[in-house]
Amino acid sequence: MFTKAATIFISLFLIAACSEQPDTPTTNSSSVLDRILGRDIAPEQIKRSFDPSQIAHGQMLFQKNCAVCHGQNAEGTSDWRTPLENGRYPPPPLNGTAHAWHHTTEELKRFILNGGPPGEGRMPGWEGILTDQEIDTILIWIKSLWPDEVYQGWYTRIENRPK
Ligand code: HEC
Repeated sequence: MFTKAATIFISLFLIAACSEQPDTPTTNSSSVLDRILGRDIAPEQIKRSFDPSQIAHGQMLFQKNCAVCHGQNAEGTSDWRTPLENGRYPPPPLNGTAHAWHHTTEELKRFILNGGPPGEGRMPGWEGILTDQEIDTILIWIKSLWPDEVYQGWYTRIENRPK
């Protein structure tokens, strides 16, 4: 996933670079991406500024409620891509190595509240057990684990998907 994201970014840069007129002033990579994404924020400028006490609280809540399935550090199970005998999938990593980052904060939150996939009950729903705020806090800890490139890709292409 990680490499795929990197490849997509590199391809975007190359496409942009090829369409440059030879006599245009040299543009740095961020303004090229701004143009592609139609926005004025470059991925490398996207920094997380989460409150350290929220990160620590999120980690505590995760380890208390979620780690039993997803692992102490959200590393999931090593064979999370292989379905079990009942056709269900084991708990995936949430640390940026799987696909949790393909979803917006809203989608992740809804999934955690409701569990799912709907009707199949593979992941328990947390509505009535954890508050909205506690889930937000857990998600902050989860996002704090993602490598910069993953977070930046998520921020530009998922959370703030160009309309
Ligand atoms: C009983 C085991 C179990 C517990 C406890 C559990 N999960 Fe899960 N979780 C799963 C399974 C299994 C899946 C995969 C569901 C599927 O088939 O898509 C999953 C999927 C997820 C996903 C979607 C990941 C993706 O790549 O799209 C998120 C986010 C998630 N869990 C967060 C949490 C959080 C936060 C908690 C604690 C509040 C938690 N889980 C507790 C079993 C669990």
